[in-house]
Amino acid sequence: MKKLLCCCCLIIGLAFPRLLTGAEPKAESSTAPPKALQALRRERFILTPDPPRSPRINGARIFGVRPGSPFLFTIPATGERPMQFTADNLPAGLRLDPHTGFIAGTIKDRGTYPVTLVASNALGISKRPFKIVCGDTLALTPHMGWNSWYVWENRVTDKIIRDAADAMVRTGMREHGYQYVNIDDCWAMKPGSRDESLNGPERDQEGMVNSNRRFPDMKALTDYIHARGLKAGIYTSPGPTTCAGHVGAYQHEELDVRRFVEWGFDFLKYDWCSYGGIAKNGSLEELQKPYRLISRILTQQPRDIVLNLCQYGMGNVWEWGKEVGGQSWRTAGDLGLSFEGIAAGLFRDGFDLYSDRKLHQFGGPGGWNDPDYLLLGYLSNWRGGTAPTPLTVDEQYTHVTLWCIVAAPLIFSGDITRLDKFTLGLLCNDELIDVDQDPLGKPGYRVAKTGDTEVWMKDMEDGSKAVGLFNRNPVEFKKVAARWSDLGVQGTRRVRDLWRQKNLGDFAGQFEIEVAPHGAEAIRIF
Ligand code: GLA
Repeated sequence: MKKLLCCCCLIIGLAFPRLLTGAEPKAESSTAPPKALQALRRERFILTPDPPRSPRINGARIFGVRPGSPFLFTIPATGERPMQFTADNLPAGLRLDPHTGFIAGTIKDRGTYPVTLVASNALGISKRPFKIVCGDTLALTPHMGWNSWYVWENRVTDKIIRDAADAMVRTGMREHGYQYVNIDDCWAMKPGSRDESLNGPERDQEGMVNSNRRFPDMKALTDYIHARGLKAGIYTSPGPTTCAGHVGAYQHEELDVRRFVEWGFDFLKYDWCSYGGIAKNGSLEELQKPYRLISRILTQQPRDIVLNLCQYGMGNVWEWGKEVGGQSWRTAGDLGLSFEGIAAGLFRDGFDLYSDRKLHQFGGPGGWNDPDYLLLGYLSNWRGGTAPTPLTVDEQYTHVTLWCIVAAPLIFSGDITRLDKFTLGLLCNDELIDVDQDPLGKPGYRVAKTGDTEVWMKDMEDGSKAVGLFNRNPVEFKKVAARWSDLGVQGTRRVRDLWRQKNLGDFAGQFEIEVAPHGAEAIRIF
């Protein structure tokens, strides 16, 4: 599979070599990470405290829906069950299930509806303001969910997706705001395959796309996901085939979208892949064309389907991803296949590409920079099995801290059925998630770089600043200072440690802390 994907990248690269600048992994003479990139490996340590047993409502505080579209939002709340849910000022057309916290229905009239969500159990009560905006804009905060690719790649099945939905509930991820359960490549037929479960009629008599035998009933599958208060995602390519050689949407775009609506999907990843052989040249117009087409078709549907553009950053997609109708756009190549390793890819694309190209200017409510999935826990070893993420413990904290500071979609792509407390702590720290999901929707950016150390800042809706302190040195601990002058604040400020969820005290002028090799600290300055 790895070979196949690299081939795809090659084809794309050959088609548009110029366009890959900044998005293409730098070739190394050997595939092993260079010595300089091998970072200190420390024992695992868990920073995220257990959530309180009393109710706490987490996750997004603003939610966009189109008039008349089916509405589904599950109130994410931690705390002991049984729990009861109510909501003040729910707009007409919506109903809340008091036992599950699922809000469903449809809203007819456009408008902004301020609601108060309430969760209570035997130990207390939690209230949280929640704004429903009924209009044309979806994805008012970055998407949160799970994707099958980096653990199951071409082995994905209906059962795997059902198990993922169950795991999202069982592990409590849903209580922190995780919502999408997304099938990646390999659900459609594969032309020329000798595998019986993958070959068969690509489309029915009407030209509607068929799933392969590993997905016997897509509608039943999305019903299963929706019944858990979650949403379902699917994947295809504007080209004749997907990156892994399965049927794509080329010349069947309208029918395929209708199929996805009939099946009940809520999210579409649209992956360039073989479209490189269709596009006439590398002009912006050709790069944009398939995305304009699919988004026009999507917006005509009686269902909200979030569109994720996957074309590896070509043509500076961040400059036009939103304009062509994307709710998010991959900013670079596949993070998990970075030639020098995931950590190097993270520093190159997550940090440097983002910073050099000033990507923070382009993301915001309705359209987000997508630096790829959270590569934590067990990932595919590309030989039919799985292996723990190659990232060191500190690199994993860096990964999540950066994703939250830049308001990236939080889509975990490891094995959701084998999550341990450490990985769950990385994925489910509500104070970090609050940074990612902040309703102001302003992606953060680098404000200082001194040697190996960096300070990144994100403006929050309440006027506070979320700050990431990073040490890119692979072996040495470094002191990193967040200076008030770099953050644009004055006076004495209260500082809170976000990973440990603890106040650190009042500080004047700056806050300094020692950061581990390739590690991160996250604070919020009030
Ligand atoms: C491309 C994408 C990946 C994944 C694979 C599937 O490489 O960038 O995220 O979807 O295709 O084949």
